[in-house]
Amino acid sequence: MNTVKETFEFVSGAITSFRDTGSIFPTSKWAAKELTSPLRAVASQSSRNILELGPGTGSVTVRILKDMRDDDTLFICELNPKFMKVLKEVLEDNKDYQRHKDRVTFFLGAAQDIDSNLKFDVVVCALPFLNFDKETVKSIFGKIRDLSSPNAVMTYYEYIGLRRLSKLLPERQERVRELEPVFRHIDLAKTGKKRIWLNMLPVNIYTMLPTALPDFEATTP
Ligand SMILES: C[S@@+](CC[C@H](N)C(=O)[O-])C[C@H]1O[C@@H](n2cnc3c(N)ncnc32)[C@H](O)[C@@H]1O
Repeated sequence: MNTVKETFEFVSGAITSFRDTGSIFPTSKWAAKELTSPLRAVASQSSRNILELGPGTGSVTVRILKDMRDDDTLFICELNPKFMKVLKEVLEDNKDYQRHKDRVTFFLGAAQDIDSNLKFDVVVCALPFLNFDKETVKSIFGKIRDLSSPNAVMTYYEYIGLRRLSKLLPERQERVRELEPVFRHIDLAKTGKKRIWLNMLPVNIYTMLPTALPDFEATTP
């Protein structure tokens, strides 16, 4: 559940840094539940290394922590220092965080800068890809592929209709058109899509296999 403080901090951070935040309100508990569904589905593996990209003030992080097992690890990557500070404050009061904190790592920086020697089994991603340019999207998905173990599963979301709307807005249309060939390649790695209406705004949540992503440098213009 988003607290008033967390929501306030997220909204003010989103207004001052909209390109990187990409939304005004934190993800709802229904969308957070769907984004973390691989953690409840992957029953056979003994322990999972989990990567969260773009936690903001923690609306999805708290659900990840709830579903973590006692031998899982969580690596949290956030670009915005203000969000990271609030996130750490929010988590101090969270009983699931207290249970797992020795296995949680915070990385303040860009997803693109995570050490590629690390490997993850589950990637939960909330980055606003439609706000980025083509090279940024390619480098982030390329990095996620490098960071993935052979059977890794990833989830991420996109606001329903935003891609179509962006093509109508003069200030966004050229950039979003340039993204289309990249998204067509990403589509090949997708394994599922779920619509969540109870979110501000409604989202499509995608599941994908990052190791099925192409080598973007070699395949997309
Ligand atoms: C749409 S918000 C999601 C926040 C929260 N997870 C939620 O779902 O409510 C996107 C988050 O990604 C972070 N972000 C944007 N670009 C990033 C990057 N390259 N690496 C890591 N985090 C990034 C933003 O600072 C922001 O916290």
